[in-house]
Amino acid sequence: MDRIIIEESRNLSGNIKVSGAKNAILPAMAVALLAPGKSLLTNVPNLIDLKSMAHLLRVLGARVDYDVDSMSIDSSDLCFNEAPYELVSKMRASVYVLGPLLARLKEARVSFPGGCAIGTRPVDLHLKAMEALGATINIDQGYIHAKADELKGADIHFDKSSVGATINALMAAVLAKGTTRMFNCAKEPEVDFTVDMLNKMGAKITGRSTKTLTIEGVDSLYPVKMEMIPDRIEAGTFMIAGALSTSPITVTNCEPAHLEALMEKLREAGCELIVEGSSVTVVPPKKIKPVDVVAVPHPGFPTDLQAQFTVLMTLADGTSRIEDTIFPERFMHVAELNRLQADIRMEGNVAVVNGVEALGGAEVMATDLRASAALVLAGLVAKGKTTVSRIYHIDRGYDRIEEKLGGLGAKIYRENA
Ligand code: UD1
Repeated sequence: MDRIIIEESRNLSGNIKVSGAKNAILPAMAVALLAPGKSLLTNVPNLIDLKSMAHLLRVLGARVDYDVDSMSIDSSDLCFNEAPYELVSKMRASVYVLGPLLARLKEARVSFPGGCAIGTRPVDLHLKAMEALGATINIDQGYIHAKADELKGADIHFDKSSVGATINALMAAVLAKGTTRMFNCAKEPEVDFTVDMLNKMGAKITGRSTKTLTIEGVDSLYPVKMEMIPDRIEAGTFMIAGALSTSPITVTNCEPAHLEALMEKLREAGCELIVEGSSVTVVPPKKIKPVDVVAVPHPGFPTDLQAQFTVLMTLADGTSRIEDTIFPERFMHVAELNRLQADIRMEGNVAVVNGVEALGGAEVMATDLRASAALVLAGLVAKGKTTVSRIYHIDRGYDRIEEKLGGLGAKIYRENA
C-alpha cells in the first residue's frame, strides 16, 4: 500500500493552485442523472471518490467519461435503480442517487451507507424528506427501498442542518408536482452550487443561500455544462500549511468568500492574509497564538478543517480548545498527532491542545480523509521524517497533494510499498 514520506519542510514558498470541489462534483454527478442527455462538468480533479461515483453511475446505466479535468455524464439510458452495498460502503455520498432515481425511475434501492471513522452518520433526514414528497420507504436487507408513482410538492422541515439531505431533497423536489418548501436547509457553498446547476437545467428554485428554499416542480430538465467551484477545504488546508510555514505562500484559484470563518481564525492566530481576487497570500506569524474553535454549519468554521486547524494549534504559544458540533467524535487524529509529540488531551468531546515547541516525526496512520491531511501538515513541521500510511484516504479527496505541496518546496514523496 502507498505511503507518503515527509521530511521537515518549514520554509514553504510560492503559489499553490486549488482544484474543483469534491463535495460539489459528487452531487453534480447525481444531478446529471435528472436530465436525459449529456451533461458536462469542468474543473474536475482526479480523485478516488469521483471514480467510485462514476462506477456507481455506470452501474445505473449512465455513460460516464472522466477525462483529465472534465467529466461527461449521459444519463439517457438510466435504467437500473439499485445502488449496491459494495459501492455505497466505499463512499457515503452514493446516497445522493436516491433522489434522482426516485424522480426519474419512481423506485430506488440504495444500500444503507452505515457509519464511518468520523462517527455514526444517519440518513434519517434524507428518508423523511423523500417520505414528505410522497415516497414510501421500507428498509429491507440493509437496503433503503423507496417508491413513488408520483412525487408531490410538500413542506419539509429539517430537524438539523444537513448538506446531504438538503441536496437529496432538492433533487427529488425539482421534478415533483407542485410546490415544495424546505425549512432549516444547509447553506454550504456546495448547496448553492447545486441550486445553480439545477436552475441552469430548468428547475425553479428560489431562496438560494438562505435556510428556506422554495421549489416549483417542473416536468423535465435539460442537460448542461457546469464549471465546478473551487474546493474550499483543499484551499483551507493549504492556507493552514502557509500558517505553519516560516515564509508566505499564495493559495490561488480559490473563493475567499467561502473561507471567511477560517480566515478569521487564522488572523486571530497571528497570520496576515492578503486577499486579491481568487488568491490569498498567507503571511505566517512569528509566534502562533492559541485560538479556540467550534466547528458548526456554514458560514461557521467547517468540520472538514477542524483536524488541520488542530495541527496549527499544536505549535501555538498556549492552550486552545477545539470542539466539533457536527461530528462530535471526529478526533481520531488526536492519538496520531500525539505520536508526533503533540500535547492534546480529550475532555469529553473537546480537544484541549497545549502548544509545544516542536513536533517530532514518526510513523502514523491515516484514519479518514481530513485526518490524513492533518497528518501531512504535521509532517511538514515535525522534526525528522514522518511516514503516513493508509493514504488511500487522502487520495479520496486531495488531487496529487504531494505534487502540489512539493511545488512549494516541501520534501514530500509517495512510496509504493
Ligand atoms: C457533507 C460533506 C462532508 C462534511 C459534512 C458537514 C459531502 C460529500 N460531504 O457530508 O465532507 O463533513 O457535509 O459539513 O458533501 N445527519 C443526521 N441525519 C441525516 C443526515 C445528517 O442526523 O439524515 C447529521 C450528521 O450526522 C451530522 C449533521 O447532520 O451530525 C450534518 O451532516 P451532513 O451535513 O448531512 O453531512 P454530509 O452531507 O454527510
